[in-house]
Amino acid sequence: MGASAQEIYDVVGVGFGPSNLALAIALEEHSANVPEHPVSAAFFERQPSFGWHRNMLLPSATMQVSFLKDLATFRNPVSRFSFVSYLHDSGRLGQFANTQTFFPTREEFHRYLEWAQARFADQVSYGSEVVGMRLPDDAAGSDPYLEVEVRVSGSEKSRVIHARNVVVSTGLAPRMPEGVLRDDRVWHSSEFLGKYRSTDPESLKRVAVVGAGQSGAEITRFLYDSLPHAEVHAIIPSYGYAIADDTPFANQVFDAAAVDDYYYGTDHAREAFWRYHRNTNYAVVDDEVIRDLHHRAYMEELQGTKRLNVVNLARVTEVKRVGDETRVSMSSLLDGSSEDLDVDALVFATGYHAMDPAGVLGDLGRHCLRDEAGRPRVERDYRLVTSPDVPCGIYLQGGTEHTHGLTSSLLSNIAVRSGEIADSVMQARAIGA
Ligand code: FDA
Ligand code: NAP
Repeated sequence: MGASAQEIYDVVGVGFGPSNLALAIALEEHSANVPEHPVSAAFFERQPSFGWHRNMLLPSATMQVSFLKDLATFRNPVSRFSFVSYLHDSGRLGQFANTQTFFPTREEFHRYLEWAQARFADQVSYGSEVVGMRLPDDAAGSDPYLEVEVRVSGSEKSRVIHARNVVVSTGLAPRMPEGVLRDDRVWHSSEFLGKYRSTDPESLKRVAVVGAGQSGAEITRFLYDSLPHAEVHAIIPSYGYAIADDTPFANQVFDAAAVDDYYYGTDHAREAFWRYHRNTNYAVVDDEVIRDLHHRAYMEELQGTKRLNVVNLARVTEVKRVGDETRVSMSSLLDGSSEDLDVDALVFATGYHAMDPAGVLGDLGRHCLRDEAGRPRVERDYRLVTSPDVPCGIYLQGGTEHTHGLTSSLLSNIAVRSGEIADSVMQARAIGA
């Protein structure tokens, strides 16, 4: 099909997790408010259907952000896409209010996200992976666009989509310790429930979980409760699980205003955010989960049984297969000694790498400017700084911790951030940039 015959979308979204779902809502609400200037948008998601960290939808896991920080409320408090609107639609608003909580279960929030995404069925292509982008041969034409290559997930079949603006929101990437490979008994937390459910629980007599963050603590609790016959080892680098600081003053680092303070602040200011507030999010655990785990450990002491073993001040250095078992080697931070443990399953809750847009940018990546540390340069409106030969906007939702701060990979600010990106796209259109 020739370029002139093919639609050029105002916005093409790469990935359809909560961030780009919030953007779809912001764009739709803009089009409803300004019907004479509707925005055309198309989103591509590599999963076969909507899913938000499905493999971590553990039964008792709760949200780590207030339900008020949903897909829309902080941008538009009267949006029909709010969590409250979802509850009303589902007939549970009154009952939810009776729970007196700000923190619904992850399971319920997932249902909310599914409810919201269903309203965009005509804009989203599931099972569609973006594999690269490039400038077209006639990049300097009167209606400039980018070519986005989309492949049917798991196949070689691809098509090219034309976009005036692209918003990349592909999410975090699982992090394993160097040299450790995953297999049918060595899992990353991001694949936990899928792997667990395809394994015979009777074969799991001794399991270990690595990491002292929220994922590690939640999985340890889940395995302990689900495998009453099994020994559960938690291998953590700290002395004990440390609490996630969600007290009111510290929580201000997740406010929309903190993005300006971070973005326009000095290097010292940015460093202070990390030094004082990393413990709001990384390698920390909710109070309730810590107390739950400790209660189990205490009851074991009382009853003279012991199957929960917290191996503290320890880092995993190596993993190898020995017969049917997996041998995990740990180094003690106390005295440098090494210890091995043979387990039937080993879960690495060792966190994530920040979103890196390089893969989906493909050829276009070389037109995107980087700072002295090699990180993407990003404007306040989340637009990548590019060389002048790129006539279109490329925006990031995620992967901007170095420029916009802690909320980059979180839900806290997605309603406001999506609104800012939508505004930027609209402004660029108005001035023909
Ligand atoms: P997200 O990762 O959700 O979505 C990205 C999407 O892009 C995925 O669906 C992926 O399949 C797709 N994709 C990737 N590459 C693609 C490609 N090339 N082509 C097409 N599609 C592609 N934060 C918070 O504030 N409160 C909380 O309670 C939690 N809870 C939480 C639980 C767990 C288990 C984790 C791991 C993380 C959290 N988080 C969180 C942080 C988390 O990053 C956040 O909740 C959102 O997932 C961020 O939404 P995004 O849409 O940016 O990424
Ligand atoms: P994380 O907070 O980054 O924690 C990773 C842990 O693994 C850290 O304790 C880290 O210690 C440890 N680790 C790394 N390499 C190790 C090694 N070789 N040996 C021993 N330990 C090692 O990751 P996460 O727990 O997955 O959390 C990521 C994000 O997801 C957070 O935003 C969190 O809030 C969110 N989350 C939310 C929920 C929920 O909403 N209920 C559930 C799960 C996760 P070092 O730091 O010392 O390397």
